[in-house]
Amino acid sequence: MNHQNTVWVTGASSGLGLHTAMALRDAGWAVIAGARSFGDRTGQRAEKAASDASDGTKPADFSGMHLLPLDVMDMGSVRAFRDRALEISPRVDAVVQCAGMLVLGSCEETDPEEFRRVMDTNFLGMVRVNQAALPLMRSQGGGRIVLFSSINGLLGIPFQNAYTASKHAIEGYAEGLQMEVRPFGIQVTLIEPGDHRSGSSRYRPHARAMGPSSPYAEEFSRTTEKIHHDETHGSDPDVLGRKVADLLSRPKAPFRKRIASPDQHLAVWVHKFLPARLNEQILRSYYLKGKAEE
Ligand SMILES: NC(=O)c1ccc[n+]([C@@H]2O[C@H](COP(=O)([O-])OP(=O)(O)OC[C@H]3O[C@@H](n4cnc5c(N)ncnc54)[C@H](OP(=O)(O)O)[C@@H]3O)[C@@H](O)[C@H]2O)c1
Repeated sequence: MNHQNTVWVTGASSGLGLHTAMALRDAGWAVIAGARSFGDRTGQRAEKAASDASDGTKPADFSGMHLLPLDVMDMGSVRAFRDRALEISPRVDAVVQCAGMLVLGSCEETDPEEFRRVMDTNFLGMVRVNQAALPLMRSQGGGRIVLFSSINGLLGIPFQNAYTASKHAIEGYAEGLQMEVRPFGIQVTLIEPGDHRSGSSRYRPHARAMGPSSPYAEEFSRTTEKIHHDETHGSDPDVLGRKVADLLSRPKAPFRKRIASPDQHLAVWVHKFLPARLNEQILRSYYLKGKAEE
């Protein structure tokens, strides 16, 4: 790889974005990292490093990266990020979009405003950053776009509906995007992670209505405990970061790359091939174990 290659990474202050940015930096890329809260993270670096290390993941290390403020919900912020990135490097060889959040809640009670916030961050955030990067990639004759979807871009689970909708939107959007931009030498890759022990609870608030009086309270509590357990016992984010860096080092990458445990690969396979009702029963019994089925 040419060591002058430049990558923009969104959502690089935490989680999979941070680990991917570190792996790309270690692989020789010039990393321009965007997020809203680098100030906090660099200030609390020792604490963050210690907590990462206790998870068995690589400690946070922003050294050698260019850290720029970026709010993907605000087109003005995205344009300012692009302009400052271009002062650092006139090229953008790759864009890796990891910025994301979720709101946990029932379909019935999650406020449309809470849905909007998730869609605005996860889906429209990608649209905005791509719109800033694509003219540059076209004029330089090519580039790579890597979009973080999820297993939830392929199947739904209870109480994670806004997130699931946003990741399904990304999956459909990326298919059309690839068809439009390939003639300009631009390759798109969807990363579909399973559970990784990287996510911060600050990006997983509960919907405001999900209190003890919710008719869904018991199932909600059971499911969110399961989701939390699966994430905290998930795969190593550092390994995922290195896989993404490896993909970007190859001249051709697959359109979809699932990075998940064997049981999560199986869940996607089951979802694709089993009848919907059977699939629903399997997922319900997984998330609501112990609860009698109707
Ligand atoms: N962890 C998993 O198990 C898992 C599984 C499947 C998919 N994913 C996907 O992987 C990506 C990273 O998730 P994660 O759980 O590893 O990380 P995380 O700890 O939840 O971190 C989220 C990141 O997104 C950034 N972000 C949120 N809102 C933003 C905004 N408006 N503008 C700019 N940046 C914003 C945050 O930075 P600031 O707050 O500093 O802006 C932070 O760096 C997400 O797209 C997620 O859907 C994760």
